[in-house]
Amino acid sequence: MEKLKPIDYSQKDNSGKLCLPPDRELKKEPFALVIFGGAGDYTRRMIIPSLYHLWKDGFIACDYSVIGFGLPPMSDEEYRAYVHRALDDFSPIHPDPEEWAAFAGHFSYISAGFDHAGGYETLYQRLGEVCLPGGSGRTEVIFYLAVPPSAAPVIISGIKNHRLCDETIMPRIIMEKPFGRDRASAEKLNEIILDVFKENQIYRVDHYLGKEAVQNIRFFRFANSMFEPLWDRRYVNHVEITVAEQIGIEHRGAFYEETGVIRDVVQNHLMQLVSLVAMEPPVRFDGDLVRDEKVKVLRSIRVMGKDEIDRFTVSGQYGPGEIEGVSVQGYPQEEHVSSGSLTPTFFAAQFYIDNWRWDGVPFFLRAGKRLKQRRTEIVIHFRQAPLTLFGNSCDKMKPNSLRFCIQPQEYIALCMSVKYPGVGNIPYPVTMDFHYDSTFPIERHSAHERLLLDCLKGDLSLFARQDGVEAMWSIVDPIIERWQEVPLHFPNYAAGSWGPSQADALLEKDGYTWSNID
Ligand code: BG6
Repeated sequence: MEKLKPIDYSQKDNSGKLCLPPDRELKKEPFALVIFGGAGDYTRRMIIPSLYHLWKDGFIACDYSVIGFGLPPMSDEEYRAYVHRALDDFSPIHPDPEEWAAFAGHFSYISAGFDHAGGYETLYQRLGEVCLPGGSGRTEVIFYLAVPPSAAPVIISGIKNHRLCDETIMPRIIMEKPFGRDRASAEKLNEIILDVFKENQIYRVDHYLGKEAVQNIRFFRFANSMFEPLWDRRYVNHVEITVAEQIGIEHRGAFYEETGVIRDVVQNHLMQLVSLVAMEPPVRFDGDLVRDEKVKVLRSIRVMGKDEIDRFTVSGQYGPGEIEGVSVQGYPQEEHVSSGSLTPTFFAAQFYIDNWRWDGVPFFLRAGKRLKQRRTEIVIHFRQAPLTLFGNSCDKMKPNSLRFCIQPQEYIALCMSVKYPGVGNIPYPVTMDFHYDSTFPIERHSAHERLLLDCLKGDLSLFARQDGVEAMWSIVDPIIERWQEVPLHFPNYAAGSWGPSQADALLEKDGYTWSNID
């Protein structure tokens, strides 16, 4: 079959540069980006490289200023050297001297504690000097909170007390997860933010939403009329969603001891995937219209009682094992983890969505660290065709399934049965697939770059909204509490396996298995 050609802007021009995307993708209004924690680790690893890539690729087609705000004393010149080192260390591409001069000229620095009034006064003055009104007559200011969650309230009150958020500035604020530790603390944090910012000024980052293959879930569902009629309880038998990681907790033992798998990836990334798979079509792909539909799904997920939690969830923690031939230690042996730790590193559960579309369809979810493979995927299992036609061969028939693999490879595969050639009616499973890399051999932006660009452009659709965040906490809070009440026998799976055997039993009781590709 002839392959479709990639769209225009994947082509390179004569000088080998990528052609620019359509105008609406570009940031054209001048802006100032203030990074609280401007000299911190997250800034040098993620924010500076992302900004540079967007700028280098021509997406930032306007004047701009970047103001680092942080504790370490530095002059503007020293801050620019810091930015250069960040690119040396964390960017795969590096500026030549001419580019560097053009890029670095936009950076400046304010050295101050987050509770230091003088720092905010200096920031107010600096914004007055560097901010140009855009076409709308308004100056665009974006505050990026690249700080631990505990620092957010003091910064937000600094912004409030120093006129940095008012009718003339109307800034946006970018915040990274976690958004609270449970529903109550998420609500409290929200009160603090909403005292200063309106909901449509708040950009809550869940980096999963910036992944191209994740965005494609809703696109694929609603752009292809052949799947949507099948996408409900009448044709879907069950749904499987996996967020499996091979890595452990790396050097974040203290953080992970406080967090555990549910707060780390289930409450946010996994629940976002559920909502994209299960949502109704939005009226348009606009911020609130998309988020309204996602919140409706999250509110329809059945909140489990203690008895259901005991039957339908599985917790786990990895012990020592081997991953791709290399021995790895167990969770209790990791740095900054207590030897008898009961922090779960694995989660599996069977959920139900109590709405018209999904009534009675089980959603099997799992997430874990130190599993056999890194694999994030969604598998939609359709119902079995009536089998009487196929006589004895029916036990070889596999029901249709549609697999969205999000990482490490990005592909969609549809599994079907065809007739095995020859005498008789022997079914044979085959796959039709689409792979991003081979179909679109073009450079793409990382999830963080995409989200940063969307925030600069004022597009909220790929960011979490507070009602969605609270709904996600309502689903997981009872599970976190219940797991703290019942005795846990950890560790209960070997690093390099697919998790505890109870996770397999969860599906086997209904006659299913996880669709691992070993
Ligand atoms: C982060 C978690 O949010 O997501 C990490 O804090 C996890 O523990 C990471 O490793 C997974 O992200 P990705 O993009 O590698 O799947």
